[in-house]
Amino acid sequence: MEDSSIATGVGLTALVTAALRAVETNTGDPLIRDPFAAHFVRLANTENPLPVRLEDVAGAEDRTLLKFAADGMALRTRYLDDHLLGTGAAQVVILAAGLDTRAFRLGWPQACTVFEMDRKPVLEFKQDALDQAGARPRCDRRTVPADLREDWAAALVAAGFDATRPTAWLAEGLLPYLSPAEEESLFDLVHKLSAVGSSIAVWAMAQDARGADQRLSSMYSTFGVQMTSVTNTEPRRNIVDHLPSLGWTVTENTIAELAGRYQRPPSSSRRRISLFTARYSA
Ligand SMILES: C[S@@+](CC[C@H](N)C(=O)[O-])C[C@H]1O[C@@H](n2cnc3c(N)ncnc32)[C@H](O)[C@@H]1O
Repeated sequence: MEDSSIATGVGLTALVTAALRAVETNTGDPLIRDPFAAHFVRLANTENPLPVRLEDVAGAEDRTLLKFAADGMALRTRYLDDHLLGTGAAQVVILAAGLDTRAFRLGWPQACTVFEMDRKPVLEFKQDALDQAGARPRCDRRTVPADLREDWAAALVAAGFDATRPTAWLAEGLLPYLSPAEEESLFDLVHKLSAVGSSIAVWAMAQDARGADQRLSSMYSTFGVQMTSVTNTEPRRNIVDHLPSLGWTVTENTIAELAGRYQRPPSSSRRRISLFTARYSA
């Protein structure tokens, strides 16, 4: 976590997700449109530039692989867009927001506050890029630099978070970077800060899939992204089994269900993911 820029270590993973959203945005029939995704990638100006459209990779096999990854990212993004808006929550906390631009893209309810938490270098890079693009948030957007492996509650409260109001939490693409103990502490804090009516959505690579998709990992490595060096594969308890005992009702989904719902190719369903939403009712 000593990484001082977006283009190193775990920060680079935020650029990969932005690149996949750019690729999807640049297809003929995108499931999501992220007008800032390609801008982030270009501005980061990494040594081995990440693709922002399918044509940016040479070779049919790599293009098929990139399309597969972009399809998965499109489903993930669209599903979580719809989920967050569907909660109707006026207080949203995006944990490890990375280059997520939902604060700028989505039609939030009136007087909605969206907190974005991530490491300082990531949030600084993002703010510079958004300022350059003249982006204007469609909600009361507040950024909270924090290391989510530590106790981040005070930083969130200092930014105006109100634990007496229901919150929609999002943990998208964060858990693979945490150790089992760090993941447990994170959920303990989320639970402690959640008023009745709060919800959480979690999207993570399934434990048995982490580091397993060799073809994707090797494609990412050609762009200078070593996924296996930043992910934590230690065995851990399944949070889905633990949350009900704390008063959360959990709903699990599969990417195959989402592929059907959003009419995406069934190939997207090959990815093994852990995807669930949960609602706290005391
Ligand atoms: C794969 S990206 C996902 C970003 C965003 N949620 C998305 O889906 O586009 C992972 C993000 O987790 C952040 N991250 C990883 N470990 C973190 C930590 N300990 N504290 C804060 N942020 C962290 C990284 O900086 C990066 O932005």
